[in-house]
Amino acid sequence: MSKLFNLVLLTLFLILFVQAGKHSKKSHEKGKIKTLINKKQNQADCYDDIDSPYVFFGTKTSYRWNRNKNDDEVTPPGCVAQQFWLLARHGSRNPTTKDMIKLKSVLPLIQREIVSNYKAGRGSLCKDDIKNLEKWKFHADVDDGELLVKEGFKELKGIGDRFQHRFRSLLTRPFVNSSYIFQHTDTERTNASARAFAKGMFGKKNIGDVFFQKSSTPDTLLRYVISGKKKSMQTQML
Ligand SMILES: *[C@@H]1O[C@H](CO)[C@@H](O)[C@H](O)[C@H]1NC(C)=O
Ligand SMILES: *[C@@H]1O[C@H](CO)[C@@H](O)[C@H](O)[C@H]1NC(C)=O
Repeated sequence: MSKLFNLVLLTLFLILFVQAGKHSKKSHEKGKIKTLINKKQNQADCYDDIDSPYVFFGTKTSYRWNRNKNDDEVTPPGCVAQQFWLLARHGSRNPTTKDMIKLKSVLPLIQREIVSNYKAGRGSLCKDDIKNLEKWKFHADVDDGELLVKEGFKELKGIGDRFQHRFRSLLTRPFVNSSYIFQHTDTERTNASARAFAKGMFGKKNIGDVFFQKSSTPDTLLRYVISGKKKSMQTQML
């Protein structure tokens, strides 16, 4: 194929491209990220005082908080980007319905324990954190098992936006089928993730132009890891 042919793939969805072009700067999230590191590790610290309390939560920490804040174009000496491939996983999703039913009954018990221990003078949580815990309610709908959550949408949208900035001479051309391929596997979370990513790249106005190709069955491209393997593995990957 010609060098204008680009590809992008996402894990469960994906994409690709190629090109060179000019680019209009989109406003990036400017949220300041205050981390626990910046604070004195003082016992009495309130989580309530921290703008982004989830930075040290391992895999539960959103990509948005730990992103690379350098959005300069990637230009290794002597190289010009010709293609972009991405195989990505879906963004944050709800637990399964079965797990959510459990969480819905167990979390309020833990909540009550924490609050009553505080009232009995035990523990070192600050007052504002206790107040927040007292107000907490289980909001999720247990029937929305495994659906992409709002944060997951924001994650993929941000990744699309950031990749576009970093490969701006390649990824700023309007969508045409001859330049981009987007594919996702057959679940709500990967479908919604792929669309969020494309929205980050093409913007709200042009997202309607993006065509999502149907994956083949069996999907040996996006589900290559699992083809021929056990079903449990399959579920894990997706
Ligand atoms: C891309 O291809 C699909 C399927 O052939 C078509 O429906 C769609 O209009 C095309 N999109 C563009 C922007 O050409
Ligand atoms: C993906 O999501 C879109 C928008 O919600 C929907 O119209 C489309 O049917 C979905 N595709 C698949 C394969 O489920």
